[in-house]
Amino acid sequence: MYLEIQRTEDGSPTLYWPEKNEHYHSTHGAIQEAMTVYIQAALRPAFQAYRENRIPEIRVFEMGFGTGLNTFLSLIEAEKAGIPVQYTSLEAYPLPPEIWEQLDYARILKGIPGHDLDLAACFARLHQQDFDGESHRLSPFFSLSKRQGLIQETELPEACFHVIYYDAFAPTVQPELWQPPIFQKLHRAAATPCILSTYCAQGQFKRNLRDAGFRVVNLPGPAGKREITTGLIEPES
Ligand SMILES: C[S@@+](CC[C@H](N)C(=O)[O-])C[C@H]1O[C@@H](n2cnc3c(N)ncnc32)[C@H](O)[C@@H]1O
Repeated sequence: MYLEIQRTEDGSPTLYWPEKNEHYHSTHGAIQEAMTVYIQAALRPAFQAYRENRIPEIRVFEMGFGTGLNTFLSLIEAEKAGIPVQYTSLEAYPLPPEIWEQLDYARILKGIPGHDLDLAACFARLHQQDFDGESHRLSPFFSLSKRQGLIQETELPEACFHVIYYDAFAPTVQPELWQPPIFQKLHRAAATPCILSTYCAQGQFKRNLRDAGFRVVNLPGPAGKREITTGLIEPES
């Protein structure tokens, strides 16, 4: 897969896949999008549930490791909050070092206060880790398990994840990744409570998410996007 590195409007890089005319992130800002869609809409509410003793630990599942940006931001958040996160990321087509070594997220994020991480070393470590399905401690509060495979063919543990980042390419590019069986699988893999979050706001996808058993809630999107979508699984009251 031939990929180009491009700069987005918030100064952070993304990858462009010319064959499909598709980007890995919003061209309005890769970090801005990841912070709004995944960290603010899903991870931080899970942190709040943890603080209120509604969940005993936080297990995150990410569909699409890609550039590692969501993983990297989640690691930083876990360290800032001092909350343990067990993160599992699935990727069908891992990036070669000659691509990820050029992604300067660590340089851009280095001013963020509230942690004492060596960000460049952390970013390299999360990419250098094998796709072996084993959990590896990357920092005091963050453990990562990377798996390689297609989401359609991957078995996931039952009732496991409190947070799901659904970061597939768009339905126009990969319609097979937005079909009912995928969300039925994710529903089985979700713990109670769980927040699934994605940048996608397409109508048919939202109906598929609802039909799989998630309560669909629209949230305001990042720059350039009116809405994003969350799917909630909540305890019975
Ligand atoms: C929109 S990109 C986002 C990646 C990542 N979250 C990031 O921030 O860079 C979608 C990712 O899904 C991966 N992917 C595509 N089809 C897949 C499949 N069937 N199963 C698992 N991963 C897939 C792609 O290789 C790509 O890395």
